Amino acid sequence: MLEKTNLKVSFIGAGKVGAAMAILLNRQGYKVVSVYDQDADAANALSAQIKGCRPTASSQQAADAADLIFITTPDGVIPQIAAEVNWRRGQGVVHCSGADSTAILEPARKVGTTVAAFHPLQTFAGAKEAMENMPGSTFSIEAEEPLLSTLKKMAADLGGNWITLKAEDKAAYHAAAVFASNYLVTLVKMSADLWQTFSIPSGQAVKALLPLLKGTIHNIETIGLPGCLSGPIARGDAGTVEKHLKTIQSKTPQILSTYKELGRQTVPIAIAKGTINQEQARQLDLLLTGK
Ligand SMILES: NC(=O)c1ccc[n+]([C@@H]2O[C@H](COP(=O)([O-])OP(=O)(O)OC[C@H]3O[C@@H](n4cnc5c(N)ncnc54)[C@H](OP(=O)(O)O)[C@@H]3O)[C@@H](O)[C@H]2O)c1
Repeated sequence: MLEKTNLKVSFIGAGKVGAAMAILLNRQGYKVVSVYDQDADAANALSAQIKGCRPTASSQQAADAADLIFITTPDGVIPQIAAEVNWRRGQGVVHCSGADSTAILEPARKVGTTVAAFHPLQTFAGAKEAMENMPGSTFSIEAEEPLLSTLKKMAADLGGNWITLKAEDKAAYHAAAVFASNYLVTLVKMSADLWQTFSIPSGQAVKALLPLLKGTIHNIETIGLPGCLSGPIARGDAGTVEKHLKTIQSKTPQILSTYKELGRQTVPIAIAKGTINQEQARQLDLLLTGK
């Protein structure tokens, strides 16, 4: 493992993730020596917050200054950076994409660097949120030693946990993140659409739904699956589900198929919780499968 006090770290990309990671790592004693961004103002603003860090005029200069380089640009730009920089044998080159494996760093690997992917399993709407939410997050790491041990330590220093991933598992891992984060947003939007049928605008609906969302997350956290499931399917209340289907069909037919599919996915959770029996499950499935 490369010790943090001997390790010079650079960032190419001073956006949400790059900035938060650079500042938080520096607070933990890592030497963040340089930062490059195509937006010079972003690089200047970030380096001004880190003692001993200087903005550079090119990605090459940022790379030259460090032993470990994080490419924290948008995903689509990472292969270009990996290909255009003249890397030094022995450097570590890391990207933070959740969807891509280390394969996109192949040009760097070919010249003798050690490559890795280091993905914070978190959603960052802005730089401030990234600083706040990165600690406590799980980092998924695809790497070989000695970089693997360095990044595990880094995840711990960032206040997070870590898992290791193989390249072939990245797509499934990222799809899971989409379910838990992006599609939750979609579900809130669908829920707010239903509120509009009784004339409550989306913003007000979301405000009213937030305590429910937070309560649900709290139950997931404290009780876990499957015990945290509540509602008509958990109770085996087919009559209520039937009413939902009728009203959605007439008022918001565009979300009927999603309601049915999620309902079918919810039935096995209720069985696992032990609050419905196989006959109740069969009846619910029949309702939720019907046209
Ligand atoms: N945001 C999240 O929720 C999140 C969560 C986990 C992981 N990640 C990953 O973290 C990485 C960075 O994402 P982010 O959200 O921090 O993106 P971001 O906020 O958009 O920051 C990317 C930065 O890179 C700069 N940039 C673009 N092209 C460049 C180039 N050719 N050379 C140098 N700098 C360049 C951008 O400048 P401009 O503004 O001028 O384009 C911007 O300052 C991505 O791999 C992403 O998948 C993001």
